[in-house]
Amino acid sequence: MNKQTAKVRIEKLKKEINHHRYLYHVLDKQEITDAALDSLKHELDDLERQWPDLITPDSPTQRVGGQPQDKFDKVRHRSPMLSLNDSFSLREIQEWETRLAKFLPPDQKVDYFTELKMDGLAISLIYKKGILVRAATRGDGNVGENVTQNIKTIEAIPLLLSTENLPGNTRRKVASEIEVRGEVFMSKKVFERANKEQAKKNLPLYANPRNISAGSVRQLDPQITASRKLNFVAYDLPTNIGQKTHEQTHKFLRLLGFSAGGHNQYCQDVESVEEYYKKISKLRDKLGYWTDGIVITVNDNSLLARLGVVGKAPRGAIAYKFPAEQATTIVEDIRVQVGRTGALTPVAHLRPVLVAGSTVARATLHNMDEINRLDVKIGDTVIIQKAGDIIPDIVKVLPKMRNGNEKLFNMPKKCPVCGSPVTKKSEEVAHYCSNKDCYAMQHQQLSHFVSKKAYDIEGLGPKILEQLAKADLVKNPADLFDLSESDLEPLERFAEKAAVNTIEAIRNSKKVTLQRFIYALGIRHVGEETSIDLAREFSSIDKVMKASLAELEDVHEIGGVVAKSIHIFFNDKKNISLVKNLIGKGVYILPERVIKRKSSLTGKRIVVTGILESMSREEAKEKIRQAGGKWVSSVSKNTDFVVVGDNPGSKAAKAKKLGVPTISERAWQKLLK
Ligand code: IVH
Repeated sequence: MNKQTAKVRIEKLKKEINHHRYLYHVLDKQEITDAALDSLKHELDDLERQWPDLITPDSPTQRVGGQPQDKFDKVRHRSPMLSLNDSFSLREIQEWETRLAKFLPPDQKVDYFTELKMDGLAISLIYKKGILVRAATRGDGNVGENVTQNIKTIEAIPLLLSTENLPGNTRRKVASEIEVRGEVFMSKKVFERANKEQAKKNLPLYANPRNISAGSVRQLDPQITASRKLNFVAYDLPTNIGQKTHEQTHKFLRLLGFSAGGHNQYCQDVESVEEYYKKISKLRDKLGYWTDGIVITVNDNSLLARLGVVGKAPRGAIAYKFPAEQATTIVEDIRVQVGRTGALTPVAHLRPVLVAGSTVARATLHNMDEINRLDVKIGDTVIIQKAGDIIPDIVKVLPKMRNGNEKLFNMPKKCPVCGSPVTKKSEEVAHYCSNKDCYAMQHQQLSHFVSKKAYDIEGLGPKILEQLAKADLVKNPADLFDLSESDLEPLERFAEKAAVNTIEAIRNSKKVTLQRFIYALGIRHVGEETSIDLAREFSSIDKVMKASLAELEDVHEIGGVVAKSIHIFFNDKKNISLVKNLIGKGVYILPERVIKRKSSLTGKRIVVTGILESMSREEAKEKIRQAGGKWVSSVSKNTDFVVVGDNPGSKAAKAKKLGVPTISERAWQKLLK
């Protein structure tokens, strides 16, 4: 066979193998036996060995390839990978629908598309010219890990998209770059097999299918990922290739060569959604994979886009979860924990019990009101419930199980850590330690401050922090920067070298990004992502501190509760002096990475309405920010201009009415350039 004939044969083999992959994974059909398919793969492998320069990245032989890696590169997502808000009852779904109506024109009819919520790991796939070039985990939603090599081992993911059955106008877009998102998961059978093998080897069992999927995708050696037999369903196509509804998104995903999951359904109203939910609840145990609920999405993509994002989730989609798994156990004790804010939280210590695949030994009781509401006593038999990864809750006491030896729990009068009196404001449910310098608070605050996502200071574990506090060397985070080697050396288990290294680590951590600085302060409700949002929006700590409540609420991703918490934090003298103190100690906040070049968009307040062809809403938002502009969600007199995409909403009309200029997508792209 000469090279030219081999090339033709290779192309045919690839196509044939891919066709059978599609039949098997997307259509659930099998036309030829596994042995026959293996034989085709074998021939392809032989030919490629003979002519290695004919190997293409989309060849089925490339599913396992490459050297094991030593770490994963970080990649920024084209648009944030969002999550979904959860709901557990028809009433909550009805309330959601009522909320949606507030954001839509009066009498707007809304229909839905429903699908299974798979219990696995979210993955983003980028295809260039139809070929899979990048696969990434969700990570923090903005930045994930590049797991391309591993993802390529999953047969259900096409290495080459099929375009022949797509409508002509969409094909052109697929030929450039598209993104597909979906869930990697493991079937029940494979999971059980994997656990049997673990048991045989006397190794710990995998807690749940989500953990094992995540663990398998994040293997440094793709051979291991391949051996785990993972599966994939696609559920989103963030690139607009012409789909007008979520139903059509699913259709296109199938045509492109993905399984978009079985059992999806168009639902014309919430009543049909409820029927679908009931149907799946009954079917659930018979499915070969785990599903923890259904996902309901507003079917019309232009409405979905208009509904925007609230917090980290799209407003127009919601998860309707199946009831969480429950188990009964005994409350062996109720003990109190003191948190970073000084609040005392009662925690039930339970007789360990297996719920939803993992062992549970603690349940939070939140506060005294909750204990009274449940009427829970030490020694009681209780029903506990676990939903997802959330710390389990006690849902009910079984009073008939009492034997008379149960003991009432009372909130201690003195802080269990420092012995100071415990106080309670009448308007709040929580009890607090009255000592503002309570060691427990200090300790929690310090551990948070030095943690990985904050100042990331190595060598300051809990034991060391405890000693530092006991020796009165460190009361608050700013004191860390006064430490010297001679302070550390006398401490237990501190060798001279370790002291030098730790002081150096502290010194090196003085230069910190604004986002980490904010995160490290430990403001209630302000996690990593909100810290990023604040840093981007305000670009200096001074501006964050001086922001009014309204300005904080105006930040697109920040809701009312979070805004209030930030506002309260920066109006507390103690916190203001902590920030001043840190800066006084030489902490240097690096300028925000967002380079605010002077551009025609600097300082402009911009609204985007309708669907943009060239970028998603999130990308548009990001671009506006990067150019120094401000994304605003509603049109007012203060809006500088409105970008009008396809199917614009009422915002375009409002702009006209107020005399706010509107520009087309094309003009918008020019501006960006
Ligand atoms: S839509 C806007 N559809 O659930 C977010 N998510 O809590 C897009 N998931 O991180 C998600 N099955 O990993 C969607 N059919 C499905 C899903 C699904 C599982 C996961 C996904 C996401 C999480 C949201």
